[in-house]
Amino acid sequence: MSGYRWVLDIDDVDWEDLSNLYRIAPLGEKPPESLEKVFGNSMFTCLVYENEVLVGAGRAIADGLDCAYIADVAVHPEHQGRGLGRAIIGRLTDLAGDHSKIILYANPGKEGFYLKLGFLPMNTAMGIWKDRDKGLSTGVLRETI
Ligand SMILES: CC(C)(COP(=O)(O)OP(=O)(O)OC[C@H]1O[C@@H](n2cnc3c(N)ncnc32)[C@H](O)[C@@H]1OP(=O)(O)O)[C@@H](O)C(=O)NCCC(=O)NCCS
Repeated sequence: MSGYRWVLDIDDVDWEDLSNLYRIAPLGEKPPESLEKVFGNSMFTCLVYENEVLVGAGRAIADGLDCAYIADVAVHPEHQGRGLGRAIIGRLTDLAGDHSKIILYANPGKEGFYLKLGFLPMNTAMGIWKDRDKGLSTGVLRETI
């Protein structure tokens, strides 16, 4: 993990760069202004740079005691497979380590990544999505127990 610069605040984030990272990772279209809001409202943030280029990111919202929720973890394709994703999750789980539980949901196909990092599948996790059809079509949600 040498050669990377880790930044745990958002003071100098270029939101266009972060939006581009999610586009090419890929983790979907996330407009810069939306990212500024959700990262700004997250207790823990993690940004990784190589030679001033943003190559990895993630964040966690948290209540300070009981529950932390990790989201928006992505690594630039040219840097995937080198342990950077594991390291980002490691930073976020360290930062949120005092919480009773750290939760997330994986995009379909990424469950094995989180399993390797110590996350266990949750038996009763459920959610309400604003875009319910998208949640269903991407395989993140299902309609039956
Ligand atoms: C998922 C992602 C963050 C992983 O980052 P990465 O830097 O490539 O992962 P790492 O190199 O740290 O991998 C850590 C371990 O997980 C494994 N792993 C990585 N992706 C995996 C997957 N999809 N399924 C199962 N295992 C996976 C690696 O083989 C590695 O195992 P090892 O330690 O035994 O060698 C990255 O592929 C990514 O950004 N993908 C696009 C965005 C995305 O899907 N984000 C997650 C949303 S839920």
